[in-house]
Amino acid sequence: MSLKDRKIIVTGGPTREWIDPVRYISNASSGKMGIAIADIAAKRGRETVFIHGPISASLLAKTKYRTVPVESTADLLNAVINELTPDTVLIMAAAPADYAPLKKSEIKIKKGAENDELTLRLKKNPDILKHVAEKREDDPALRNIFVVGFAAETNNIEEYALKKLKEKNLDMICLNDVSRTDAGFSADTNVITIFTRNRERLELPLLLKENAAAAILDKIESELKKIK
Ligand code: PMT
Repeated sequence: MSLKDRKIIVTGGPTREWIDPVRYISNASSGKMGIAIADIAAKRGRETVFIHGPISASLLAKTKYRTVPVESTADLLNAVINELTPDTVLIMAAAPADYAPLKKSEIKIKKGAENDELTLRLKKNPDILKHVAEKREDDPALRNIFVVGFAAETNNIEEYALKKLKEKNLDMICLNDVSRTDAGFSADTNVITIFTRNRERLELPLLLKENAAAAILDKIESELKKIK
């Protein structure tokens, strides 16, 4: 089955974990990488859905496919699970918050005059890709889903990306060095190295995110051709 026979689920943007009614934990993901992939996926796949955290409305204005807004990492997990079909290609370009406050305060936390420090207790969020990997193991109907992760790294970048490829049981991972100003979070360009399950390595040059997205989808297409 090639991309034209597949449903493509792309995730993008950050998630938001509320501390109190006015403050949250998040990150600098703009959603540009996810949108760039979804735009091209919509031309190549059977159906495309873009599940996104809070991102600028102007980015979403021209989308010609279904979009599903979410807020927290738990919401993103539910939305992804809800969209999974046996023919899915899942591309996780979102940057879900790894931790959330143990408890959201119902009222605004006051800045106590006597306290120079504030301690926040955080709990680990679910790992969406690990959940999907477990579902694929447990449910024979989902055996053929194809799962692509991203790795946003600042140091030991290849080592950590390969660890994620294995631990999250991915078919492919797209590594970006987010310590660079011309790559990763918020930039219009990216520098990606793709690793496949069988450790093929494809290094892409500095590219506009739309061109990087096209190269990622080309690689997914060639990997799908290897699957009977
Ligand atoms: O949105 P932009 O500004 O265009 O920036 C693009 C990007 C830098 C966000 C994107 O290219 C990228 O790298 N996305 C992944 C960010 C991230 O969360 O990386 P990670 O190395 O922490 O996570 C590894 C993989 O696990 C990712 O595919 C992530 O989506 C997924 N994940 C992470 C946490 C979590 N709880 N569940 C997950 O499934």
